[in-house]
Amino acid sequence: MKIGHVEVDKGILLAPMEDVTNLPFRLICHRYGADIVYTEFVSSDGLVRDARRSIEKIKLAEEERPVAIQIFGGEEDIMVGAALRAEESNPDFIDINFGCWVKNVVVRNAGAALLKDPEKMASLTASIVKAVKKPVTVKTRLGWAKDSIVIVEVAQMIEDAGAAALTVHCRTRDMGHDGDADWSWIPKIKKVVNIPVIVNGDIKTPEDVKRAFDETGADAVMIGRAAIGHPFLFKRARQYMNTGIIPPPIHHRERIEVCLEHLQLEIDNKPLKRAVHEFRKHYGGYLKGLPNNSLARQDVVRMEEFADISHRLLDFSVELDTIEHNSILLGT
Ligand SMILES: Cc1cc2nc3c(=O)[nH]c(=O)nc-3n(C[C@H](O)[C@H](O)[C@H](O)COP(=O)(O)O)c2cc1C
Repeated sequence: MKIGHVEVDKGILLAPMEDVTNLPFRLICHRYGADIVYTEFVSSDGLVRDARRSIEKIKLAEEERPVAIQIFGGEEDIMVGAALRAEESNPDFIDINFGCWVKNVVVRNAGAALLKDPEKMASLTASIVKAVKKPVTVKTRLGWAKDSIVIVEVAQMIEDAGAAALTVHCRTRDMGHDGDADWSWIPKIKKVVNIPVIVNGDIKTPEDVKRAFDETGADAVMIGRAAIGHPFLFKRARQYMNTGIIPPPIHHRERIEVCLEHLQLEIDNKPLKRAVHEFRKHYGGYLKGLPNNSLARQDVVRMEEFADISHRLLDFSVELDTIEHNSILLGT
Protein backbone atom coordinates (compact mmCIF):
# COMPACT_ATOMS: atom_id res chain seq x y z
CA MET A 1 0.00 0.00 0.00
CA LYS A 2 1.24 3.46 -0.85
CA ILE A 3 0.02 6.73 0.71
CA GLY A 4 2.21 9.52 -0.66
CA HIS A 5 5.78 8.53 0.17
CA VAL A 6 4.68 6.00 2.79
CA GLU A 7 4.86 2.46 1.50
CA VAL A 8 3.95 -0.56 3.63
CA ASP A 9 3.23 -4.08 2.55
CA LYS A 10 0.29 -5.60 4.44
CA GLY A 11 0.55 -2.86 7.04
CA ILE A 12 -0.68 -3.34 10.60
CA LEU A 13 -1.81 0.12 11.73
CA LEU A 14 -2.66 1.70 15.07
CA ALA A 15 -6.17 3.22 15.03
CA PRO A 16 -6.80 6.78 16.14
CA MET A 17 -8.31 6.72 19.65
CA GLU A 18 -9.35 9.75 21.67
CA ASP A 19 -7.48 10.06 24.98
CA VAL A 20 -5.41 6.98 24.05
CA THR A 21 -3.24 7.56 20.98
CA ASN A 22 -1.22 10.41 22.39
CA LEU A 23 2.49 10.69 21.58
CA PRO A 24 3.74 8.22 24.24
CA PHE A 25 1.23 5.56 23.22
CA ARG A 26 2.02 6.04 19.54
CA LEU A 27 5.74 5.73 20.27
CA ILE A 28 5.26 2.52 22.23
CA CYS A 29 3.10 1.02 19.47
CA HIS A 30 5.63 2.09 16.84
CA ARG A 31 8.47 0.51 18.85
CA TYR A 32 6.49 -2.73 19.07
CA GLY A 33 5.66 -2.96 15.41
CA ALA A 34 2.82 -0.65 14.33
CA ASP A 35 3.51 0.26 10.70
CA ILE A 36 1.59 3.56 10.78
CA VAL A 37 0.22 5.39 13.81
CA TYR A 38 -2.55 8.01 14.00
CA THR A 39 -3.17 10.83 16.44
CA GLU A 40 -6.50 10.88 18.20
CA PHE A 41 -9.04 13.03 16.35
CA VAL A 42 -8.38 16.71 16.73
CA SER A 43 -11.15 19.30 16.59
CA SER A 44 -10.93 21.54 13.53
CA ASP A 45 -12.48 24.36 15.54
CA GLY A 46 -9.78 23.94 18.19
CA LEU A 47 -6.99 23.91 15.62
CA VAL A 48 -8.07 27.06 13.83
CA ARG A 49 -8.40 28.81 17.20
CA ASP A 50 -4.95 27.55 18.19
CA ALA A 51 -6.50 26.02 21.32
CA ARG A 52 -3.74 24.70 23.58
CA ARG A 53 -5.16 21.15 23.89
CA SER A 54 -5.62 20.83 20.12
CA ILE A 55 -2.12 22.09 19.36
CA GLU A 56 -0.69 19.67 21.94
CA LYS A 57 -2.39 16.80 20.11
CA ILE A 58 -0.65 17.55 16.81
CA LYS A 59 2.84 17.56 18.31
CA LEU A 60 4.70 14.74 16.55
CA ALA A 61 8.07 13.03 17.00
CA GLU A 62 10.45 11.87 14.27
CA GLU A 63 10.72 8.45 15.92
CA GLU A 64 7.05 7.61 15.48
CA ARG A 65 6.94 8.01 11.68
CA PRO A 66 5.01 7.25 9.61
CA VAL A 67 2.30 9.16 11.45
CA ALA A 68 -1.03 10.68 10.42
CA ILE A 69 -2.89 13.53 12.09
CA GLN A 70 -6.64 12.97 12.20
CA ILE A 71 -9.02 15.93 12.18
CA PHE A 72 -12.79 16.18 12.50
CA GLY A 73 -15.28 18.91 11.81
CA GLY A 74 -18.29 19.77 9.71
CA GLU A 75 -17.60 23.14 8.11
CA GLU A 76 -15.53 23.48 5.00
CA ASP A 77 -13.56 26.65 5.70
CA ILE A 78 -12.79 25.54 9.26
CA MET A 79 -11.70 22.06 8.17
CA VAL A 80 -9.51 23.47 5.43
CA GLY A 81 -7.93 25.86 7.95
CA ALA A 82 -7.43 22.98 10.38
CA ALA A 83 -5.85 20.77 7.71
CA LEU A 84 -3.42 23.56 6.84
CA ARG A 85 -2.61 24.00 10.53
CA ALA A 86 -2.12 20.22 10.90
CA GLU A 87 0.16 20.22 7.87
CA GLU A 88 2.52 22.62 9.67
CA SER A 89 3.29 19.76 12.10
CA ASN A 90 4.59 17.79 9.13
CA PRO A 91 2.61 14.55 9.44
CA ASP A 92 3.12 11.95 6.71
CA PHE A 93 -0.54 12.40 5.80
CA ILE A 94 -3.78 13.87 7.10
CA ASP A 95 -6.76 11.68 7.93
CA ILE A 96 -10.34 12.97 8.10
CA ASN A 97 -12.70 11.47 10.65
CA PHE A 98 -16.11 10.78 9.11
CA GLY A 99 -16.88 7.94 11.49
CA CYS A 100 -17.13 9.23 15.04
CA TRP A 101 -20.49 8.15 16.40
CA VAL A 102 -20.65 10.12 19.67
CA LYS A 103 -23.53 12.54 20.08
CA ASN A 104 -21.61 15.75 20.73
CA VAL A 105 -19.71 15.22 17.46
CA VAL A 106 -22.62 14.22 15.22
CA VAL A 107 -24.86 17.07 16.47
CA ARG A 108 -22.22 19.40 15.06
CA ASN A 109 -22.66 17.65 11.68
CA ALA A 110 -19.20 16.18 12.01
CA GLY A 111 -17.85 12.62 12.22
CA ALA A 112 -20.38 9.94 11.24
CA ALA A 113 -23.07 12.60 10.59
CA LEU A 114 -21.52 12.97 7.13
CA LEU A 115 -22.65 9.40 6.34
CA LYS A 116 -26.11 10.93 5.98
CA ASP A 117 -24.75 13.35 3.38
CA PRO A 118 -22.13 11.58 1.23
CA GLU A 119 -22.07 14.51 -1.22
CA LYS A 120 -20.95 16.84 1.55
CA MET A 121 -18.42 14.26 2.74
CA ALA A 122 -16.96 14.16 -0.76
CA SER A 123 -16.92 17.93 -1.18
CA LEU A 124 -15.23 18.45 2.21
CA THR A 125 -12.64 15.85 1.21
CA ALA A 126 -12.08 17.52 -2.17
CA SER A 127 -11.61 20.96 -0.58
CA ILE A 128 -9.06 19.63 1.91
CA VAL A 129 -7.21 17.65 -0.76
CA LYS A 130 -7.00 20.81 -2.86
CA ALA A 131 -5.78 22.97 0.01
CA VAL A 132 -2.93 20.85 1.39
CA LYS A 133 0.17 19.29 -0.14
CA LYS A 134 0.16 16.17 2.03
CA PRO A 135 -1.94 13.16 1.05
CA VAL A 136 -5.42 13.13 2.61
CA THR A 137 -7.16 9.93 3.72
CA VAL A 138 -10.62 9.22 5.11
CA LYS A 139 -11.82 7.00 7.96
CA THR A 140 -15.50 6.23 8.14
CA ARG A 141 -18.09 3.55 8.90
CA LEU A 142 -20.40 1.41 6.74
CA GLY A 143 -23.30 3.81 7.00
CA TRP A 144 -25.53 5.63 9.47
CA ALA A 145 -27.69 2.55 10.18
CA LYS A 146 -28.00 -1.05 9.07
CA ASP A 147 -30.75 -0.12 6.61
CA SER A 148 -28.71 2.72 5.10
CA ILE A 149 -25.30 1.27 4.27
CA VAL A 150 -23.62 3.61 1.80
CA ILE A 151 -19.97 2.63 2.03
CA VAL A 152 -19.56 1.35 -1.54
CA GLU A 153 -20.88 4.61 -3.02
CA VAL A 154 -18.97 6.66 -0.46
CA ALA A 155 -15.72 4.87 -1.35
CA GLN A 156 -16.11 5.81 -5.01
CA MET A 157 -17.01 9.38 -4.14
CA ILE A 158 -14.08 9.96 -1.84
CA GLU A 159 -11.70 8.37 -4.35
CA ASP A 160 -13.04 10.80 -7.00
CA ALA A 161 -12.54 13.61 -4.46
CA GLY A 162 -8.84 12.78 -4.34
CA ALA A 163 -8.52 10.80 -1.10
CA ALA A 164 -5.35 8.72 -0.98
CA ALA A 165 -6.81 5.84 1.07
CA LEU A 166 -9.97 4.79 2.90
CA THR A 167 -10.25 3.15 6.31
CA VAL A 168 -13.52 1.44 7.08
CA HIS A 169 -14.62 0.72 10.63
CA CYS A 170 -16.95 -2.10 9.63
CA ARG A 171 -19.88 -1.07 11.81
CA THR A 172 -22.74 1.38 11.27
CA ARG A 173 -23.04 4.55 13.34
CA ASP A 174 -26.04 3.22 15.29
CA MET A 175 -23.94 0.25 16.46
CA GLY A 176 -21.44 2.43 18.32
CA HIS A 177 -18.89 -0.17 19.39
CA ASP A 178 -21.47 -2.94 19.90
CA GLY A 179 -22.20 -5.98 17.75
CA ASP A 180 -19.79 -7.61 15.35
CA ALA A 181 -17.83 -5.73 12.75
CA ASP A 182 -18.85 -6.90 9.28
CA TRP A 183 -15.70 -7.21 7.15
CA SER A 184 -17.68 -8.60 4.20
CA TRP A 185 -18.08 -5.05 2.84
CA ILE A 186 -14.36 -4.70 2.18
CA PRO A 187 -14.18 -6.96 -0.93
CA LYS A 188 -17.21 -5.08 -2.34
CA ILE A 189 -15.39 -1.78 -1.84
CA LYS A 190 -12.14 -3.16 -3.26
CA LYS A 191 -14.03 -4.03 -6.47
CA VAL A 192 -14.95 -0.40 -7.15
CA VAL A 193 -11.92 1.65 -6.06
CA ASN A 194 -8.20 1.67 -6.75
CA ILE A 195 -7.08 3.52 -3.62
CA PRO A 196 -5.85 1.41 -0.67
CA VAL A 197 -8.61 0.15 1.60
CA ILE A 198 -7.86 -0.43 5.28
CA VAL A 199 -10.08 -2.77 7.30
CA ASN A 200 -10.88 -1.94 10.93
CA GLY A 201 -13.06 -3.40 13.65
CA ASP A 202 -12.69 -6.40 15.98
CA ILE A 203 -9.09 -7.26 15.04
CA LYS A 204 -7.79 -8.51 18.37
CA THR A 205 -5.23 -11.28 17.81
CA PRO A 206 -2.49 -12.28 15.35
CA GLU A 207 -4.93 -14.82 13.91
CA ASP A 208 -7.54 -12.06 13.39
CA VAL A 209 -4.94 -9.99 11.51
CA LYS A 210 -4.22 -12.83 9.09
CA ARG A 211 -7.90 -13.68 8.72
CA ALA A 212 -8.73 -10.03 8.00
CA PHE A 213 -6.18 -9.96 5.18
CA ASP A 214 -7.20 -13.36 3.83
CA GLU A 215 -10.96 -12.80 3.98
CA THR A 216 -11.12 -9.22 2.74
CA GLY A 217 -8.14 -8.59 0.45
CA ALA A 218 -7.65 -5.30 2.35
CA ASP A 219 -4.39 -3.41 1.78
CA ALA A 220 -3.81 -2.94 5.51
CA VAL A 221 -5.47 -3.68 8.82
CA MET A 222 -6.04 -1.21 11.64
CA ILE A 223 -6.16 -2.17 15.31
CA GLY A 224 -7.77 -0.08 18.04
CA ARG A 225 -8.84 -1.39 21.44
CA ALA A 226 -6.78 -4.58 21.39
CA ALA A 227 -3.58 -2.53 21.36
CA ILE A 228 -4.41 -0.80 24.65
CA GLY A 229 -2.08 -2.32 27.24
CA HIS A 230 -0.86 -4.73 24.57
CA PRO A 231 1.30 -2.90 22.02
CA PHE A 232 3.08 -6.23 21.41
CA LEU A 233 0.14 -7.26 19.25
CA PHE A 234 1.67 -5.56 16.21
CA LYS A 235 4.93 -7.50 16.33
CA ARG A 236 3.22 -10.76 17.30
CA ALA A 237 0.84 -10.39 14.36
CA ARG A 238 3.76 -9.70 12.01
CA GLN A 239 5.58 -12.79 13.31
CA TYR A 240 2.48 -14.89 12.73
CA MET A 241 2.00 -13.48 9.22
CA ASN A 242 5.65 -14.25 8.38
CA THR A 243 5.95 -17.71 9.94
CA GLY A 244 2.44 -19.12 10.34
CA ILE A 245 3.37 -20.01 13.92
CA ILE A 246 1.43 -18.38 16.75
CA PRO A 247 4.06 -16.54 18.82
CA PRO A 248 4.24 -17.39 22.52
CA PRO A 249 2.54 -15.00 24.93
CA ILE A 250 4.66 -12.06 26.08
CA HIS A 251 6.50 -12.91 29.29
CA HIS A 252 5.42 -11.02 32.43
CA ARG A 253 8.88 -9.43 32.78
CA GLU A 254 8.64 -7.87 29.31
CA ARG A 255 5.07 -6.73 29.94
CA ILE A 256 6.11 -4.96 33.11
CA GLU A 257 9.25 -3.47 31.52
CA VAL A 258 7.23 -2.10 28.61
CA CYS A 259 4.56 -0.78 30.95
CA LEU A 260 7.26 1.20 32.77
CA GLU A 261 8.86 2.30 29.49
CA HIS A 262 5.45 3.60 28.40
CA LEU A 263 4.87 5.36 31.74
CA GLN A 264 8.30 6.99 31.48
CA LEU A 265 7.43 8.30 28.00
CA GLU A 266 4.21 9.68 29.41
CA ILE A 267 6.16 11.47 32.17
CA ASP A 268 8.67 12.82 29.65
CA ASN A 269 5.83 14.44 27.76
CA LYS A 270 3.70 16.12 30.41
CA PRO A 271 3.66 17.21 34.05
CA LEU A 272 4.26 14.25 36.41
CA LYS A 273 0.92 14.33 38.19
CA ARG A 274 -1.09 14.46 34.98
CA ALA A 275 1.07 11.77 33.36
CA VAL A 276 0.70 9.37 36.28
CA HIS A 277 -3.06 9.92 36.49
CA GLU A 278 -3.69 9.62 32.77
CA PHE A 279 -1.60 6.46 32.61
CA ARG A 280 -3.83 4.60 35.08
CA LYS A 281 -6.12 3.32 32.34
CA HIS A 282 -3.21 1.29 30.89
CA TYR A 283 -2.35 -0.93 33.89
CA GLY A 284 -5.37 -3.17 33.32
CA GLY A 285 -4.11 -4.11 29.87
CA TYR A 286 -0.44 -4.59 30.78
CA LEU A 287 -1.26 -6.76 33.80
CA LYS A 288 -4.23 -8.60 32.29
CA GLY A 289 -4.27 -12.32 33.01
CA LEU A 290 -1.20 -12.26 35.28
CA PRO A 291 -1.72 -14.22 38.53
CA ASN A 292 -2.65 -12.12 41.56
CA ASN A 293 -2.58 -8.92 39.51
CA SER A 294 -5.40 -7.15 41.32
CA LEU A 295 -3.37 -6.21 44.42
CA ALA A 296 -0.51 -4.80 42.34
CA ARG A 297 -2.99 -2.87 40.25
CA GLN A 298 -4.83 -1.48 43.27
CA ASP A 299 -1.51 -0.28 44.65
CA VAL A 300 -0.11 1.40 41.55
CA VAL A 301 -3.28 3.33 40.74
CA ARG A 302 -2.89 5.07 44.12
CA MET A 303 0.76 6.01 43.59
CA GLU A 304 1.99 9.38 42.37
CA GLU A 305 5.74 8.86 41.85
CA PHE A 306 7.49 6.89 39.11
CA ALA A 307 9.94 5.33 41.60
CA ASP A 308 7.11 3.96 43.78
CA ILE A 309 5.23 2.54 40.81
CA SER A 310 8.39 1.05 39.39
CA HIS A 311 9.33 -0.62 42.72
CA ARG A 312 5.85 -2.05 43.14
CA LEU A 313 5.71 -3.45 39.62
CA LEU A 314 9.23 -4.88 39.79
CA ASP A 315 8.36 -6.54 43.12
CA PHE A 316 5.30 -7.97 41.43
CA SER A 317 7.50 -9.25 38.63
CA VAL A 318 9.74 -11.05 41.16
CA GLU A 319 6.61 -12.51 42.79
CA LEU A 320 5.59 -13.83 39.36
CA ASP A 321 9.12 -15.23 38.80
CA THR A 322 8.67 -17.26 41.99
CA ILE A 323 5.24 -18.53 40.92
CA GLU A 324 6.70 -19.45 37.55
CA HIS A 325 9.74 -21.16 39.13
CA ASN A 326 7.54 -23.17 41.51
CA SER A 327 5.23 -24.26 38.77
CA ILE A 328 8.21 -25.46 36.70
CA LEU A 329 9.49 -27.43 39.72
CA LEU A 330 6.04 -28.93 40.26
CA GLY A 331 5.67 -29.60 36.56
CA THR A 332 2.36 -27.75 36.43
C1 LIG B 1 -11.44 4.98 23.39
C2 LIG B 1 -11.67 5.09 21.90
C3 LIG B 1 -11.44 6.29 21.27
C4 LIG B 1 -11.62 6.41 19.89
N1 LIG B 1 -11.33 7.58 19.27
C5 LIG B 1 -11.34 7.64 17.90
C6 LIG B 1 -10.84 8.77 17.22
O1 LIG B 1 -10.36 9.75 17.83
N2 LIG B 1 -10.90 8.76 15.87
C7 LIG B 1 -11.40 7.69 15.15
O2 LIG B 1 -11.41 7.71 13.92
N3 LIG B 1 -11.87 6.61 15.78
C8 LIG B 1 -11.82 6.55 17.12
N4 LIG B 1 -12.21 5.41 17.76
C9 LIG B 1 -12.60 4.23 16.94
C10 LIG B 1 -11.38 3.36 16.63
O3 LIG B 1 -10.45 4.04 15.84
C11 LIG B 1 -11.81 2.08 15.89
O4 LIG B 1 -12.43 2.45 14.68
C12 LIG B 1 -12.79 1.23 16.70
O5 LIG B 1 -12.38 1.13 18.06
C13 LIG B 1 -12.91 -0.18 16.10
O6 LIG B 1 -11.65 -0.82 16.08
P1 LIG B 1 -11.24 -1.93 17.20
O7 LIG B 1 -12.34 -2.97 17.20
O8 LIG B 1 -9.93 -2.47 16.74
O9 LIG B 1 -11.18 -1.23 18.52
C14 LIG B 1 -12.08 5.28 19.13
C15 LIG B 1 -12.34 4.08 19.80
C16 LIG B 1 -12.12 3.97 21.16
C17 LIG B 1 -12.37 2.64 21.83
